[in-house]
Amino acid sequence: MELPYSEPYKTKMVEPIRKSTRAEREQWIKEARYNVFNLKSHQVYIDLLTDSGTGAMSQEQWAALMTGDESYAGASSYYNLKEAIKDITGFEYFLPTHQGRAAENVLFSTILKEGDIVPGNAHFDTTKGHIEFRKATAVDCTIDEAYDTTLQHPFKGNVDLSKLEKVLKEHPAEKIPMIIVTITCNTSGGQPVSKENIKQVSAMAKKYNVRLIFDSARFAENAYFIKTRETGYEDKDIREIVREMFSYADGMTMSSKKDAIVNMGGFIGFRDEELFKKATVYNIMFEGFITYGGMSGRDMNALAQGLYDGTEFDYLESRIGQVARLGQQLAEFGIPVQQPFGGHAIFVDAKKFLPNVPKEEYIGQTLAVELYIEAGIRGAEIGTLMADRDPVTRENRYPQLELLRLAIPRRVYTDNHMKVVAVALKNIYDRRSSINKGLEIVSEAPIMRHFTVELKRKG
Ligand SMILES: Cc1ncc(COP(=O)(O)O)c(C=O)c1O
Repeated sequence: MELPYSEPYKTKMVEPIRKSTRAEREQWIKEARYNVFNLKSHQVYIDLLTDSGTGAMSQEQWAALMTGDESYAGASSYYNLKEAIKDITGFEYFLPTHQGRAAENVLFSTILKEGDIVPGNAHFDTTKGHIEFRKATAVDCTIDEAYDTTLQHPFKGNVDLSKLEKVLKEHPAEKIPMIIVTITCNTSGGQPVSKENIKQVSAMAKKYNVRLIFDSARFAENAYFIKTRETGYEDKDIREIVREMFSYADGMTMSSKKDAIVNMGGFIGFRDEELFKKATVYNIMFEGFITYGGMSGRDMNALAQGLYDGTEFDYLESRIGQVARLGQQLAEFGIPVQQPFGGHAIFVDAKKFLPNVPKEEYIGQTLAVELYIEAGIRGAEIGTLMADRDPVTRENRYPQLELLRLAIPRRVYTDNHMKVVAVALKNIYDRRSSINKGLEIVSEAPIMRHFTVELKRKG
């Protein structure tokens, strides 16, 4: 008999979590104005709000913290991180930042100006926010298959080359400071981009003389999918694939809170020394001196180690396997989820799940609230709230997909927790025909409103 699967680690420290009553949760979510970001963590039983900064560090990472060098300039931790980045990604130059959006802020301040166009595959919300804040435009060139949650396609994060070429032909190269490819593509459901697609996008970028930048938060998960789904890569080592992927990019922004399994941190990788030097000015202004850029020495040390932890095949197999087991259970219950399952999260198709809630009443958010009340589980809406209003017309933008994202923190929850999540969703699915009303907005910020929006139940 074949031995069953088990995790490639054991637990050394535990953090208690507490169940609550339905009555408590109804009160708490009302007090939180039906925005799960406003819940206090003790009010949450299983927290799938994000996989960002919520992972459990390894003993090697904790040990690395203890030898952090807190010198303002020239810290050994900075050089440790520089070595690790060079080794894992191949980028010669780098700037540390306090997290991913800070990396975007620094890079975009250096190269992006009003009226510019930035094509890519379903830009992440902070990326789009930083583009639109500068009065530039993000153009989504993701393949159409990504928007059909039932369709089986191994690389739903891929860029549609004809959509991309159309943008590159319509605008002069001076107006396109970069193409951004997000690996894996969070917004389209944690879906990977194939090596072949990366290669083709890179060739097109070169043809039109435009930079190619990777938004790399989940680069290791992307490499795992290349290894397990793309012909010719099955026998390659994850780190070999990672190096090959990055060899096609001119630069990268990184939220280290994901695949580098640290609780805070980010960086920008550059191939071009000139660009690195220009960006340094903004890094010093916004983040801190070149050799710490918003991070403490101990955190840079933990991040250097995390880049190695996160690119171990056994770890990735366990992590992505757990996400897939949750997805499989949901699919067996008949619950509509994005297929194939993403790397860091399961995305529930909220429009199909709650067909009686009108789109004007925030279907994804309505499902997030229902799941919280059902079992104290916190997920995140990736739908109309997150899509914000059109910057010109101020009308709601209704994205093709209205999703509830269940992001799984790395090395944190067991499969038993995942079973609770699956059954909680099944209970809601069984009574879905009685859910006819959603939510309405009471107050909202002009940009990235989903973080702070206040809602009430539709009367
Ligand atoms: C694809 C992607 N890019 C950028 C970011 C922003 O990173 P951070 O949260 O570290 O600012 C995120 C965060 O979730 C992300 O998923």
